[in-house]
Order: sequence, then C-alpha cells, then structure tokens
Amino acid sequence: MRVLVTGGLGFIGSHTVVELQNEGFEVVIIDNLSNSTMDVLGGIERITGKKPLFEQIDLRDKLAVQHFFSNHQDISGVIHFAASKAVGESVENPLLYYENNISSLVYLLQELQKKPEAHFIFSSSCTVYGQAKKMPITEDAPIQVAMSPYGNTKQIGEEIILDVAKVSNFKSILLRYFNPIGAHPSAEIGELPLGVPQNLVPFITQTAIGLREKLSVFGNDYPTADGTAIRDYIHVVDLAKAHVVALKRLLYNKNLEKVEIFNLGTGKGSSVLDVITAFEKTTGQKLNYQIEGRRAGDIVEAYADTQKANKVLGWKTHLTLEDALRDAWRWEKKIKNTN
Ligand code: WQD
Repeated sequence: MRVLVTGGLGFIGSHTVVELQNEGFEVVIIDNLSNSTMDVLGGIERITGKKPLFEQIDLRDKLAVQHFFSNHQDISGVIHFAASKAVGESVENPLLYYENNISSLVYLLQELQKKPEAHFIFSSSCTVYGQAKKMPITEDAPIQVAMSPYGNTKQIGEEIILDVAKVSNFKSILLRYFNPIGAHPSAEIGELPLGVPQNLVPFITQTAIGLREKLSVFGNDYPTADGTAIRDYIHVVDLAKAHVVALKRLLYNKNLEKVEIFNLGTGKGSSVLDVITAFEKTTGQKLNYQIEGRRAGDIVEAYADTQKANKVLGWKTHLTLEDALRDAWRWEKKIKNTN
C-alpha cells in the first residue's frame, strides 16, 4: 500500500517519510517546494537507502490534484502536512493562508471521498486551544477563538474533516502537535533555514553559530516561575513516529470512530530560559540573548496531557529536550559546513 505524504519535503513531513520507509511503507511525496528544497529528498535517501517517489504539485491546483489521484489509484493512505505555517506571516497575508491551507485540504478530501476505503491523517496544532485554561491540555479542552489566521486554518481544517467524515467512508486522525524541534540524529535532514526563523530553537542555533547577533527573549514578565513563556517541546523524530503509529491504527484497527484526535507532546513544559540553559549545557555553547518585550499573540503556557496518545494511540515520546537541542545543533553545524 502506497502512502501519500503531502509536504513531505518539509520539516515534519521529511522526518515522517523516513520513519514510514523504515517501517516498510512505499511513499509518494507531493510538495510545491515553497518552503523546502530537492536536497531534502537526497537526505531522506541517504538515511533510509530508499528514494521516495516525488511529484512537484501545488495542491491549490485542483486539476493537478485530480490528475495525481487518477495516476495513483493505489493510494489510500494520506498524511497531509502541506500548509503555510508562519503565524506572523498569516496575520500579514491572511488570504494566502486561507487559500493555501483550506483549498488544498478540500481538493484532497474530494479525491479521498471517491475511494471505497481511505485513511487520512491531518497535521493540526495545539494552537487551536489558544491559551487553555487548564494544564496539562487534554483533547477535550475547549477550542478558543484563533489567535491568528494560521491557527484559524487549523481549526477550520478540523471542522471540515469532521463534517466530511459524517458523509464519507474514510477514517481520519487529527494530530495536534505541540512544539516540534530538533533534527534527525544523522544530520541528513532538519529544519531548513529559509528566511529569518520565527521559532525559538532555530533562532537559538543560528545565534550560537553566528548567523544572528543575539536571541531576543520575548518577555520575562509572564506569570511563570522564571517569567518566560512555557511550551511543550517535542523531538521531531518522536513526532514523526507518532504518524506511523496513527497510520497503522487506521489500517489495522477496524472499529475506530470516523475521526480521532490526539495531542502530541512530551507532557512536560519548558520555559524559554529552560531551553536556553539546556542548550548551553548540552552543547557547551554560550548563548547571547537579551530580554525584550512580549511578542503579540503569544500565549503564556501550553503543554500536553499525553494520556490519550499513550493509552489509546499506544505512542509516547522517548527523546528529551536535550536530545532535540543536541540534534538541532548538529544540524546547524552541518548546514554551515555544507554552505
Ligand atoms: C516558542 C516560545 C516565544 C522566538 C508556533 C505556532 C505553532 C507551531 C510552533 C506550526 C514563545 C519564544 C520565540 C524567539 C522567543 N507552528 N521565542 N524568541 O509560538 O509556541 O508556536 O510554532 O505548527 O502552531 O503557534 O513557537 O518557537 O515561535 O515560540 O523568546 O526568537 O519562544 O515567545 O514563548 P510557538 P515559537
């Protein structure tokens, strides 16, 4: 059975392709290369020894999506990563996000609806919870008004899947990621540094390697132990493995609900200063940082309740924050040596 991975040359997508291939799945990648490069395909092959099929398609092109599925009738499993994902950019350019993230999902689901059987995994985000009232965050925590058009496209995406599932015969799993970080320990794939990093860990590694003059810590006046905001940082390889577990659940477990939702995190919260301290300790690199004002739209605290993923999905994280920072640093040094 061949699995389609959309956005399979992206950060989480490429790590998931590696884990799918490690488990013997045949993979086809669709990517429009808007936030990735063909080098990632080589990186995947150097890790697994198998080159996935790849087609450069923009999922906003409805005819191209229809054409792809008519040429690949054997695809019944889809893991959908392809989406624009920069919170700040979504505020500046909401229509780019609504067109890209929503229309691509609709065109994919229209193709899956035609199949007698299909399995769909949707890349969602803890951002749908906004600032949850209770920690750790469970899957039944209320969905709050989105903090950004990006977050809204994830909420709308989930609602579309729930509505379509009621009148379709395919099963879906929505995976709500907390904060994915790190890189493959081989340093063959990682988070591509395209533009100025919006996220904390790539900014840390680029500061440590000298690409950025200093890290701005966005606020130390939050109501937390050290005043900086708390997140649940999950190693991207642990996250990738969760997608293989979810796909196997859809393939081999027949009495599932039409749509299942799982929070994917470590269950542990780390503040920005915790991450900086862990990075310095793990890598021996002193980090130049400065406390600045809060970033608009940031929440104070988010970390996952992992019981449902542990007990129902049968998955848990094995890698630590230190493992992820060590792997992110190794990847940063690899990029520097190859540029
Ligand atoms: C983490 C913490 C910042 C950069 C976003 C999306 C989420 C997902 C992950 C896509 C915050 C602080 C950051 C910096 C800092 N994206 N920070 N200096 O905002 O929790 O989540 O990315 O799926 O959907 O919402 O992640 O890494 O941007 O920030 O102090 O230069 O680090 O204020 O407290 P975030 P982040």
